[in-house]
Amino acid sequence: MAPSSRIAIIGAGNVGAAAAYALMLRGLVAEIVLIDADADRAAAEATDIADANAIARPTRIWGGDYADVRDATILVITAGAATKDGEPRTAIAGKSAAIVRDCVGQAMAAGFDGILVVASNPADAMTQVAQVASGLPSARVIGTGTLLDSNRFRKRIADRLGIAPGAVEALVLGEHGDSEVMAYSTVRIGGMALDAYLDGRGFDRAAIAHDVMRAGYTIADGKGYTSFGVATAIVRICEAIHRDERIVLPVSTLVEGQYGIDDLYLSLPCLIGAGGVLRILTPDLHDDELAALHASAGALRETLKNTG
Ligand code: 2OP
Repeated sequence: MAPSSRIAIIGAGNVGAAAAYALMLRGLVAEIVLIDADADRAAAEATDIADANAIARPTRIWGGDYADVRDATILVITAGAATKDGEPRTAIAGKSAAIVRDCVGQAMAAGFDGILVVASNPADAMTQVAQVASGLPSARVIGTGTLLDSNRFRKRIADRLGIAPGAVEALVLGEHGDSEVMAYSTVRIGGMALDAYLDGRGFDRAAIAHDVMRAGYTIADGKGYTSFGVATAIVRICEAIHRDERIVLPVSTLVEGQYGIDDLYLSLPCLIGAGGVLRILTPDLHDDELAALHASAGALRETLKNTG
């Protein structure tokens, strides 16, 4: 009998293991299976997380293989190359694309027919590679995209204002990467636009924008990689799907004409539910933000050229 709910994670590295751990703590699904080319690593991470079951949430979690993917409702892909020495995420596009294509090919051959959530970097291009390789409808292939960046944006604005990050709505759009767009025009605090809320107080927008865009590099400089922020973004998307929340999250989705951009994965606010992306939203943007979004789209097209 198929389990009530199973999430499979391909890649038991720092991001995959953190996502599995966060999923277990959320008690979201009955089963989590970790799959990795290094089967011993996957088994060890699964055992380590399962050792928390007695006092956390009774999730069955194990190191498995692609046969376990068939009954998964959501397949998370974290496998890919790793950046080094501060290189941009785009530098690993070719290597990651080969890994992502192989993982997706094996998953589809095993009979997967659920929703793909892609976190491998460069995130938008890898999500597009995964969608093409899977043949799944684009609504069912979602990238973590700028959900992580938007969380970073909200946190840093909130810190400057001395309020809770959850009190700040703010969207980062476009590429999860150097060309991402800090859409300050979308910032709301209790329905108030940022300038109205600031009421004449100073606010260094450029400094925050730079800090958000560089956050991945800064964290990796200190610990060698990033994991918890992107793992939480993965879990938030899985939760929205699994619970059919119909919530709006900025995620990487196939844009088909929105803002005059076509056939390209990049992040826009999307309505997310059991069917994946239910609707792509197009908030009004200032001219400079729209120009930056088109520049981001151009950067993403260049990255796609390097994915083979
Ligand atoms: C991040 O921004 C590395 O893309 C990852 O945390």
